[in-house]
Amino acid sequence: MRLRNVKGARTIIENSTYVLKNYEEYKGKFKMIFNNDNPIHVEIGMGKGDFIIGMAKKYPSINFIGIEKYDSVIVRAIEKINEEIPNLKLIRMDADKISEVFNKEIETVYLNFSDPWPKNRHENRRLTSLNFLKKYDNIFKKNKTIIMKTDNRKLFEFSIIQFSNYDYKIDSISLDLYKDNIKDNVSTEYEKKFNSLGFPIYKVIVKK
Ligand SMILES: C[S@@+](CC[C@H](N)C(=O)[O-])C[C@H]1O[C@@H](n2cnc3c(N)ncnc32)[C@H](O)[C@@H]1O
Repeated sequence: MRLRNVKGARTIIENSTYVLKNYEEYKGKFKMIFNNDNPIHVEIGMGKGDFIIGMAKKYPSINFIGIEKYDSVIVRAIEKINEEIPNLKLIRMDADKISEVFNKEIETVYLNFSDPWPKNRHENRRLTSLNFLKKYDNIFKKNKTIIMKTDNRKLFEFSIIQFSNYDYKIDSISLDLYKDNIKDNVSTEYEKKFNSLGFPIYKVIVKK
């Protein structure tokens, strides 16, 4: 998702206390930012933030960090924060660098409606490719959990194979989330859109 340039986006990001600017300095020490030992969960490609903001409000004893590549998108998330959420931070960065930013401190990674990159030659850009799974090794604490939702069946199938090849075990899976179980579900922008169009939402939780 790349939105047209948003006027003043840079200034809004600079002024936001939710956006971590000097995030590289916290490698291995992110708990200092939250001032507690609560688990840290990360959403990669958070888009306009509905999910990560909703999760942070719903689970105050978990710390949430949303990562997004584009200024024009992260600024939309900042605009949605209308109350103090002490367990939420945002980082504007390309997830390609994620293993340089965190060190053995993350418990769960959420991948919601990630870009499918359908061309074979772009396989390494998919956030569930072996390329990225290797990077996540470095950021996770001992136990690793990835929670993925998508409307894209091909990306879903590809991801299951990648997870399995990299020794992740399926903890739970749904081929139609809204028929199976949406109890406790926090939806994303894309999820709302695709569900309203009647498309099935796929979800898998894998652990290692
Ligand atoms: C299709 S949108 C989904 C947004 C949101 N997760 C949702 O479900 O509504 C994918 C988002 O991931 C971001 N993104 C894609 N690749 C990324 C990367 N390598 N690092 C950080 N963000 C990325 C895009 O800019 C976009 O906002």
